[in-house]
Amino acid sequence: MVKVVQPAKRLRGDVVVPADKSITHRSVFLSALARGISTIKNPLAAEDCLSSLKCVEKLGCHVEKKKDSWMVEGVGLWGFSPPSHPLDCGNSGTTMRILSGLLAAQDFESTLIGDPSLSKRPMDRVAEPLKSMGASFTLSQGKFAPVTIKGQKPMRAISWESKVASAQVKSAVLLAGLHADGETSFEEPGLSRDHTERMLLAAGASLQKSGLKSVVKGPCELKSADWVVPGDFSSAAFFIAAGLLIEGGEVILRSVNLNPTRTGFLSYLKDMGASWDIKNQKDLGGEPVGDLVIKGRANLRAVSLKPHLVPSLIDEIPIMAVLATQARGKTVFSNLSELRVKETDRLKAMALNLSALGAKIEETQDGLIIEGPSILGGGMVNSFLDHRIAMAMSVAGLISKSDVSIQGSESVMISFPSFWTQLSSLTGNI
Ligand code: S3P
Repeated sequence: MVKVVQPAKRLRGDVVVPADKSITHRSVFLSALARGISTIKNPLAAEDCLSSLKCVEKLGCHVEKKKDSWMVEGVGLWGFSPPSHPLDCGNSGTTMRILSGLLAAQDFESTLIGDPSLSKRPMDRVAEPLKSMGASFTLSQGKFAPVTIKGQKPMRAISWESKVASAQVKSAVLLAGLHADGETSFEEPGLSRDHTERMLLAAGASLQKSGLKSVVKGPCELKSADWVVPGDFSSAAFFIAAGLLIEGGEVILRSVNLNPTRTGFLSYLKDMGASWDIKNQKDLGGEPVGDLVIKGRANLRAVSLKPHLVPSLIDEIPIMAVLATQARGKTVFSNLSELRVKETDRLKAMALNLSALGAKIEETQDGLIIEGPSILGGGMVNSFLDHRIAMAMSVAGLISKSDVSIQGSESVMISFPSFWTQLSSLTGNI
């Protein structure tokens, strides 16, 4: 479906930030692993998280969905039933990778499948540690979905040093570690989002965290819980950027998750010269949240990306590329080869789309080089069915001289179903 985004003359109002995708997935999986009834208040009812919910239902967990909450009846560490068909993870890498950790510990065989995009993303990164814990994995071409898992009961505790900073892989190993006899440790090269660690502690697991290493002690049953999901910082990021870029813009984003392992984008924006206000800071379900008040138009300078920030802004690179086209000077993004294996190759997608609108952008092996500021013109761009590319390009459309048409605009359903309606109401362009 093609969506036409018109240049914005204004951007004003409150954004209802959708619930955090990462935390919703984890609430579903931790609830399924616990014994008894858990509730998930304010879950993200978008396609990716619904894939996780359907998978645990097919594994024998009773699930009830209400408007603003989900109920999941957990079955305990080893209580899942063998699924009668392959489990469909849709477009969701988080579902496939974290669920692999749960299934690797079950005493049965199961298969995970996904859509064409997910079937091209590497799954060996999660299979390798889980194989060393005793499970067997069969992957297409040794790397991709369909993933067939023959679980191992009990699992072997391991010490794993990961080559990638990936919260999905970390979560899979830590959740598998709940089923092992002894201490399972996971060390990563950079600090990825730590929601799993926070939530495991809240569910009564014995977990220790120091620096880049997390250690879980098994076997350990989890307590059922009442999870509350805050607003997703990565969804808020599109409106933060739009609010900063549009003259006279003023947007308020309420109850946004401000976990420091997620907010590298704010540090980056500060270096670019942007500012904002944060109000009503508090703790919500073990995560720091606050209301963000953003006012345009910022006079931005080009800032090259510091490698240590990458894991904490990994999902914000597409929107950062749009911001860089409006900043004074040359922006160099590097150390981003992970972007090539997201829902689409995000480096290629942003280079193609922004150059189609007239930006000065060059794709490098592991990043982008962007010269700004440049005047963007209208044109046709493609989301490549990647939600974050569609939303980033819509912000480019707001600051373009004429209309930008976005192919595959329906991809926002993955993480932000109300995106287009909220964008229209903020700009007044229906
Ligand atoms: C996620 C982790 C990140 C991120 C993704 C969600 C998670 O992926 O890009 O959108 O919920 O754990 P990686 O683990 O591949 O870095």
